Amino acid sequence: MSGSEPLKIAAAVAIAFAVAGVSDAVSKWVYRIEPSGSGVVAVGEKPASEVFEQDVPVVSLLPAADLARGEKLARSCAVCHSFEEDGHRKTGPGLWDIVGAPTAREERFQYSDAMAQMDGHWDISTLDAYLRDPDTYLPGTTMNYIGLRDSEDRAALIAWLKTLSGEKLIRNPGIYVEP
Ligand code: HEC
Repeated sequence: MSGSEPLKIAAAVAIAFAVAGVSDAVSKWVYRIEPSGSGVVAVGEKPASEVFEQDVPVVSLLPAADLARGEKLARSCAVCHSFEEDGHRKTGPGLWDIVGAPTAREERFQYSDAMAQMDGHWDISTLDAYLRDPDTYLPGTTMNYIGLRDSEDRAALIAWLKTLSGEKLIRNPGIYVEP
């Protein structure tokens, strides 16, 4: 055994520890940015009925949705949102023609990072899940609204929101509701 052998072993052991330390740090970091599993869900196109068990799929309730009820429910949103075309921005972004629109579409509105990073459209699924429970569906959203737990309420509201549009075109399949 040459005199440098113990040194080499010590170096190998030190390297092994260093690598283990780094990978431990990496795994901790990865772990932190992953959903914690405590009710927080990844943002996606999933309807509330898939994210929150026991919910009736809103899309199945749309044909019989009660527009008058939807309009009434929308009063609770009007504190923060305008429903008019060219309506003034309030605490929240304008909601005219929101069904089927891209998420975070207003250029000059200060969206939360969570919403700004959403990539998709406000179709039935995303509206359904966000309006049911904004904080759970989109952790970090600045919309200070408790949510609508009743599927029929959400169907009524989403059907009414769909009437706020100048066009009758089907832009995305599955989002059109007969006014
Ligand atoms: C207390 C104020 C407040 C109330 C009440 C409220 N919102 Fe919001 N809403 C906001 C804010 C603020 C945002 C921006 C959220 C973000 O950036 O995370 C927002 C965002 C939204 C968006 C996304 C719009 C876009 O441009 O992408 C939709 C859709 C929405 N709200 C629907 C509703 C509906 C429907 C109601 C009523 C059931 C409602 N909100 C009630 C404040 C509110």
